[in-house]
Amino acid sequence: MKKIVIAIDGHSSSGKSTMAKDLAKEIGYTYIDTGAMYRAVTLYCIQHGFFEGEKIKEEELKASIHDIDISFRLNAETGRPDTYLNGVNVEKEIRGMEVADKVSPVATLGFVRRALVAKQQEMGKAKGIVMDGRDIGTTVFPNAELKIFVTASSQVRAQRRFDELKEKGMPADFDAILKNVEERDYIDTHRETSPLRKADDAITLDNSEMTIPEQKAWLMEQYQKAIAE
Ligand code: DC
Repeated sequence: MKKIVIAIDGHSSSGKSTMAKDLAKEIGYTYIDTGAMYRAVTLYCIQHGFFEGEKIKEEELKASIHDIDISFRLNAETGRPDTYLNGVNVEKEIRGMEVADKVSPVATLGFVRRALVAKQQEMGKAKGIVMDGRDIGTTVFPNAELKIFVTASSQVRAQRRFDELKEKGMPADFDAILKNVEERDYIDTHRETSPLRKADDAITLDNSEMTIPEQKAWLMEQYQKAIAE
C-alpha cells in the first residue's frame, strides 16, 4: 500500500499528540513526537549547566549540538515510543515541569531548529510516518501528502489541562491555566523562527465539540482519502 507522510500541527493542549499516536498505531506507521526532541535538547542543557537562570549559554550549546543524539524506541509495555537522549531513556524527565518551563526559549534558537529539522527530515525519508509538532506541514515536510492543523478554543484546552492535573491529584487553578494556554499560543505564533502557522494546504480540525472516537473516525477518513489520491 502507498506510504505517505502525515503532518499534524496545532496549538498546545489541542490533543494532537494523542490523535497522532493513535493513528500511527492503527495504520502501522512510525510516530514521531518533535516536541519531545526540543524537550530532550532542553534536558541536555539542564544536565550540562547551560542555563544561567532563564538565559541559555548559546555558544556552549552550539558547540555541543552535534553531540546530542535523540532517538525513539518502542516501549513494549505502553505500546508507545519512549525518547532516548544519548542512549538513556528520558521519557519521564522530559515531561517534568523543569523542562516544560525552559523549553520555549530553546525552541526559538535557529541553530537548534535547523539541527532538529534535518534530523526529522531524515527520520521521515522512507515515509510511513505520523509526525506532530508546530512546523511539520510548513517547514519539515512542506510536501507531506496529508496535513492536519488541530485546534480547539482556549477555554476547552484549558479545561482539558485542568482535568488532567486534577486526575493526577495535582493542584490546578483554571484561570492560571487559561492564562498560560493563551500565553503559549502567543509565543508559538509570534516567534521569529518557524512560528506556528497553518500550512495553506492543511485541513483544519477544530475538536472543541468532538469526542475522541469522533475525532478518530474523522482522521481515518482523511487518511483513507489521502492514500487513495
Ligand atoms: O508539543 P510540546 O509541548 O511537547 O512541545 C514542546 C515545546 O517545543 C513547545 O515550546 C513548542 C516547541 N515545539 C516547536 O517549536 N516545534 C515543534 N515542531 C514541536 C515543538
